Amino acid sequence: MAVRKIPTQTQNFRQIKKVLLEKMKIVLMMALTADGKIAKHPNHLADWTSKEDKKLFSKISKEIGVVIMGEKTFKTLPKPLSERLNVVFTLEKNPNQIEGVRWVSGSPKKVIKELEKDGYRRALLAGGASLNSQFLKEKLISKLIITVEPIIFGSGLAMFEGDFNTPLKLKDLRKLNESTVALTYEILD
Ligand SMILES: NC(=O)c1ccc[n+]([C@@H]2O[C@H](COP(=O)([O-])OP(=O)(O)OC[C@H]3O[C@@H](n4cnc5c(N)ncnc54)[C@H](OP(=O)(O)O)[C@@H]3O)[C@@H](O)[C@H]2O)c1
Repeated sequence: MAVRKIPTQTQNFRQIKKVLLEKMKIVLMMALTADGKIAKHPNHLADWTSKEDKKLFSKISKEIGVVIMGEKTFKTLPKPLSERLNVVFTLEKNPNQIEGVRWVSGSPKKVIKELEKDGYRRALLAGGASLNSQFLKEKLISKLIITVEPIIFGSGLAMFEGDFNTPLKLKDLRKLNESTVALTYEILD
């Protein structure tokens, strides 16, 4: 008969410390045009992405439970994302309180620390370009899920602003419909 070891108090403390020190895993999820744009302009609604992309975003973000975004991206939504905590960055001093929305400000590292303190262990970063860049700069993103839609904008916003040289490793590649693909990358840096 297998003998089950009862953990000592020290082991219990170590386990608790490990959980408390565990870093939050942040996944960035974005829809891109075939020429690498996320929108034509900051107020552009995401009405050009496929229903398969929207379904994938809904599934993954609900599994994760926390969606982080910039205020401009939040404004493009008809309402806060349901069944998920909406963590929205703004410099506005007194934003209107909205159910399901946590307004935050300052460096992404500081905000993530606050979320970690509240027990959150995973979050999905959902844009836009400004917020994506700040998170990448602070090396907070561990995974990238990109869907590429069959459309070209020419001009518009890129996924990141600024100069980066971040190496990636392709982990998964799948077709969502006749013309849309989803790529999953691990961030190596
Ligand atoms: N294709 C896709 O998958 C996808 C996904 C998401 C977004 N988008 C598109 O991206 C566009 C918006 O991107 P964006 O780069 O213009 O804006 P954004 O990143 O969504 O939001 C920028 C705003 O966030 C706030 N902010 C940013 N950093 C902050 C910080 N450290 N502390 C406090 N507040 C901070 C500021 O809000 P205040 O002005 O309130 O101070 C700033 O104006 C939209 O067109 C949207 O449709 C596309």
